[in-house]
Amino acid sequence: MKKLRAFYFSGTGNTKFVTKYLLNKLTCVYEVKDHDIMSGKDFLADISEADLILIAFPIYASAPPIPMRNFVYKYRKAWKNKTVAIAETQYFFSGDGAASIGRTLIKNGADVAYAEQFNMPNNLADSSVFRIRNEAELEKTLDRAIRKMDEFSQKIIENRRSRRGFNPVSHAVGYYCQRKWWRKSESEKRSLIKVDESLCVGCGLCVKSCPVENLALVKGKAQGQGGCVFCYRCVNLCPRSAITLFGKKTVTPYKGVPNIKD
Ligand SMILES: Cc1cc2nc3c(=O)[nH]c(=O)nc-3n(C[C@H](O)[C@H](O)[C@H](O)COP(=O)(O)O)c2cc1C
Ligand code: SF4
Ligand code: SF4
Repeated sequence: MKKLRAFYFSGTGNTKFVTKYLLNKLTCVYEVKDHDIMSGKDFLADISEADLILIAFPIYASAPPIPMRNFVYKYRKAWKNKTVAIAETQYFFSGDGAASIGRTLIKNGADVAYAEQFNMPNNLADSSVFRIRNEAELEKTLDRAIRKMDEFSQKIIENRRSRRGFNPVSHAVGYYCQRKWWRKSESEKRSLIKVDESLCVGCGLCVKSCPVENLALVKGKAQGQGGCVFCYRCVNLCPRSAITLFGKKTVTPYKGVPNIKD
């Protein structure tokens, strides 16, 4: 049986959910395995043995997350002649989000045969814009995403090439509306995490959960260390809503897609 190897980065669970859902659909034609790229493993053997590679990530202002960019760069010599599917998650809009990493893969010799952008709940918990307000809205968003995932996996099963966002208009919109401005100040933003010390009780949950070890307890209070990758995990899971990044206070903590936590 052909092998599918999936590599994902997920701050708050949406992309992990999409990855697992797609793999489940594709088990009829592939032997599947998925890997969290933050697990610290060496993935060269997994990439080499794959007949199809799935790359999955959330979009941040039309740009792929820093860990996903680093992953693609680290294994740049391994992409040659590999067939790749891209699954990008977003709450609403990215223009060319899937292509933003797809172009790098293609430059390194990959054949990006499939790419799709899935609207999922917004995890920007300290913003009131585009937030999911209730269970019914959450369910509606997930239903739509599931229909799109069913269609996408069917295309892969039938070898029907399909690439969302790989056109000049999407490229220009993604770049000029968001990515250009975001990337300009991205490194400065890495130290923007704010902890309200009057709320923080020093439980350490955020410290344990940060995928890049950017948080530390200093005198019993959480503190950023300047290496944030904007995943919003800590902002959403802090039981005291003590952490913010781009907003002023936590408006709607997002606990991730129901029933997929493991
Ligand atoms: C820093 C940041 C920037 C984001 N920018 C966008 C964006 O430009 N467009 C969009 O539709 N969603 C945007 N989102 C929403 C996420 O991409 C979306 O909620 C994603 O599904 C989260 O995936 P995860 O749960 O796997 O981390 C942004 C989220 C964060 C944290
Ligand atoms: S999760 Fe919240 S309360 Fe706990 S240490 Fe982190 S900031 Fe403080
Ligand atoms: S500090 Fe928070 S938002 Fe930044 S990378 Fe760590 S968990 Fe994600």
